[in-house]
Amino acid sequence: MAVRASRARRGDRVRSMGRHARIAQLARLDEPGLDVADLGCGSGRTVRQLLAYEPAVVHAIDQVSDLDDDLLHDPRVRSRIVDLDADLVLPTATLDRVVSLNTVEHLQDPVAHLVEVHRVLRPGGVLVLAHSDWDTALFTSNDDELTRRLVDRFVATVPTWVDRADGFMGRKLPALADASAQRGAPFEVVHLDSWADPHRRFDERSIAFKVAMGIVAAAADDDELGPPAAQWLADLSTLADADQFLFTVTDVAVVLRRR
Ligand SMILES: C[S@@+](CC[C@H](N)C(=O)[O-])C[C@H]1O[C@@H](n2cnc3c(N)ncnc32)[C@H](O)[C@@H]1O
Repeated sequence: MAVRASRARRGDRVRSMGRHARIAQLARLDEPGLDVADLGCGSGRTVRQLLAYEPAVVHAIDQVSDLDDDLLHDPRVRSRIVDLDADLVLPTATLDRVVSLNTVEHLQDPVAHLVEVHRVLRPGGVLVLAHSDWDTALFTSNDDELTRRLVDRFVATVPTWVDRADGFMGRKLPALADASAQRGAPFEVVHLDSWADPHRRFDERSIAFKVAMGIVAAAADDDELGPPAAQWLADLSTLADADQFLFTVTDVAVVLRRR
């Protein structure tokens, strides 16, 4: 009984771990004092999780400055504005760990980017390359067929606020590692993982709401899909208020060791 109870508790802990904490865990910061980078860090949700492992430094890299204030003031965090379509402005073989979440779909040449990550990692250093596969987005709604059509439209559309996007990037990550080796930057695949966290909130700060807004924007110019999309959004909100809402999407992560 005691064993069963402790397994259940362990299970609860695993289930409640969000994607940013999982990525930090996959990065295997097993000793303090490591040099780490988060590429396409956004507001720094993954950076915050990495700091729990007591790294020496986390380079928080993005093309825009959107880091939360507490992270900007943390002496271990170095905020760097860098275009990831160009060279990383870091010396060769200086990083122990690199993480990247939901960023490579926006890059011109994700394989060239991996070659550049290989350059800045120390031999034996680890890259956690992670991406949501947006084609797997699942919403509880009152109209499953409409939801299917809206998600299809979403993954077929590049939002106006980015240069490029690939709604199928999650499933493509293992192939990217192979392609990097073919360009002279080999990685060993240490681990391949995927998960789908349940999200039940639908307020403006929730991931479900942000993805739903992207979906509505993708349908906005379509005379047939635009009007029902607006009603779909309102329905999701009603379902969430009634505690009947679920959003989830499959995240994929490859853990790569630099050879
Ligand atoms: C979807 S957000 C992910 C943010 C963060 N990793 C997270 O999961 O919360 C994608 C991030 O990639 C950054 N990004 C996209 N293209 C970039 C580029 N060419 N150079 C640098 N950053 C880029 C964006 O500014 C944005 O912060």
